[in-house]
Amino acid sequence: MITIDELLHLMRTRRSTRRLSRQPLTPQQEHSLLEAFISAPSSGNSQPWHVRIIRDSPLKQRLRQAALNQSFVEHAAAVFVICADTDRAFKAYHRRGVELYCLQDTAAATQNLLLAAHAMGLAACWVGAFRESSVRDVLSLPESLRPVAIIAVGTAEQQPDTPARRPIHEICPDLGG
Ligand SMILES: Cc1cc2nc3c(=O)[nH]c(=O)nc-3n(C[C@H](O)[C@H](O)[C@H](O)COP(=O)(O)O)c2cc1C
Repeated sequence: MITIDELLHLMRTRRSTRRLSRQPLTPQQEHSLLEAFISAPSSGNSQPWHVRIIRDSPLKQRLRQAALNQSFVEHAAAVFVICADTDRAFKAYHRRGVELYCLQDTAAATQNLLLAAHAMGLAACWVGAFRESSVRDVLSLPESLRPVAIIAVGTAEQQPDTPARRPIHEICPDLGG
């Protein structure tokens, strides 16, 4: 078991990294990232998610265009497209499953993936600014799979600065001591 200090260190030093090398991930690295992903909690353990890994340059280029031309999407070693499986979510929890839980479930799993990437010495950036319909077209996703996050993964070519966090007392007035 790792200590809380080790865990906090991992969390605090993870950065959204946009200067990524194209050096391919190994199958073992991809597998470990997905192990981390599927280890996340989900509503009623419904696991309403689906992941595509894009390594192919022409497809990465089209994803870059779908992601409002954010160039690091194309230059990443691999691009993970995280989808919410709305059919699974509906079967489990009807409207609340589709409108809320599957978004929370996929976000929790995505954060697991980001932390695992960092622990493995990889770097990544979560991309939320993209046209869903374009991503659907690029990957021929069925209607039931809603693309909710694009994760560009690679090796850091430059370490970003640490963006400031709001102080704890501002976001939670209830802390004792
Ligand atoms: C839901 C979500 C959407 C994001 N979308 C983008 C994006 O489209 N492009 C980008 O460069 N960074 C994006 N980010 C990364 C944030 O800018 C970044 O997490 C934030 O600035 C804090 O930096 P840090 O991750 O290094 O702590 C996104 C992050 C989240 C959680």
